[in-house]
Amino acid sequence: MRISVIGCGYLGAVHAACMAKLGHEVVGIDIDESKVLALSSAEAPFYEPGLEDLLREVQSTGRLTFTTDMSAASNSQVHFVCVGTPQKKGENGADLTFVDASMTALLPYLSAGDVVVGKSTVPVGTAARVSEWVEQRQPSAHLVWNPEFLREGHAVSDTLHPDRLVYGVSDGSEDHPAVAILDKVYSAPLTSGTPRLVTDLPTAELVKAAANSFLATKISFINAMAEVCEAAGADVTQLADAIGMDDRIGRKFLNAGIGFGGGCLPKDIRAFMARAGELGADQALTFLREVDAINMRRRTRVVELARDLCDGSRLGKRITVLGAAFKPESDDVRDSPALSIAAQLQLQGAVVTVTDPKALANAARRFPELHYEADTARAVQNADALLLLTEWQEYRDLDPYETAVAVSSLRVLDGRNVLDSSKWRAAGWSYRGLGRP
Ligand code: UGA
Repeated sequence: MRISVIGCGYLGAVHAACMAKLGHEVVGIDIDESKVLALSSAEAPFYEPGLEDLLREVQSTGRLTFTTDMSAASNSQVHFVCVGTPQKKGENGADLTFVDASMTALLPYLSAGDVVVGKSTVPVGTAARVSEWVEQRQPSAHLVWNPEFLREGHAVSDTLHPDRLVYGVSDGSEDHPAVAILDKVYSAPLTSGTPRLVTDLPTAELVKAAANSFLATKISFINAMAEVCEAAGADVTQLADAIGMDDRIGRKFLNAGIGFGGGCLPKDIRAFMARAGELGADQALTFLREVDAINMRRRTRVVELARDLCDGSRLGKRITVLGAAFKPESDDVRDSPALSIAAQLQLQGAVVTVTDPKALANAARRFPELHYEADTARAVQNADALLLLTEWQEYRDLDPYETAVAVSSLRVLDGRNVLDSSKWRAAGWSYRGLGRP
């Protein structure tokens, strides 16, 4: 099929490459010329495992091109809208500027029977509003809301092998003409057994908000348990293992630590609360305020623990922060708890060095005042304390005996509970985990 993908960020660039991999002819459209230039030469403008290899592979087939020119969409029958919906400045709600601008720019190029597919995470009600624009412009075109559930760091495989597909259509019916067209787009994953659900537009929008809210709640739940474990002298990692064995609960997303960050979970729960308030259903989501508060408390807690670890004072202490990205296998530092903790420590007088395998350039743009060191061995040199804040494999694999030779004091704070505490303690380290004795 001929497909356009509008917005080539973390979501759209991957989606465009994966659609081409599935055999479609794809044009990726973005207003950012440097992004288009990079993608056109098969370079990913951000780090995502497997993406550059995939770009090279599909571009050699001639099925994938990139442009800044929206008129290129006129050759396509299906148009995926993959632009960002960041948090509004100074407010909880989502900023829909990019969705509205890209939809408006696309409208003149729609032909009869085209399908516009929204993938961005939007407040419920957005799809109904945009579908009116589409209908007014091209009465036989359709708007579908098809939320995306990919995780950064696994984006390519999540897109090629999604665990479910949700199509929101105006009448919520399997017989809606857009359903058959989307089935053709996704024929490969559907053939290999991916379940797909057809819903109405608001349900599809809410599925995404609800899924991310549930994940955020699960993380904050275990972090709340970590607080109680700390007070009671219990171990939250064992607690998570034990409750996770109940398959109604499940062990995934029960890793206590410095909390969630990134470009999705934090802003999505806030936008969801804001939207529920507009709809008069704010009481239903007040618990998300607590989820957010528990999450933000983790950051403060680590700053306090770092002080305790450094004998009561951060002033002049050389602290090395291992990890800047909001999660491993990503260079994304949007709302990264690791980076936010590093910046707070620096403000409180510590001398902070931050290291990360991929995210240093983005981190330096966000917090230019911090000191960055790409080489782990150099970053830990003479440190008074190590803080493991993003669980890259390289940091999980650090050898406590070898590392002991490089640092000034044997102190480590494991913000993700991924180090073997007994091994580090046996090597002479003063070890602190979160929610662990
Ligand atoms: C999240 C969702 O998992 C995706 O399903 C969704 O499509 C995406 O948002 C989105 O809305 O686009 P992502 O932001 O890539 O994906 O990251 P997650 O893997 O969900 O991790 C989010 C944060 O939670 C990270 O900071 C991670 O370190 C933290 N986390 C995760 C924990 O603190 N504990 C856990 O047990 C799991």
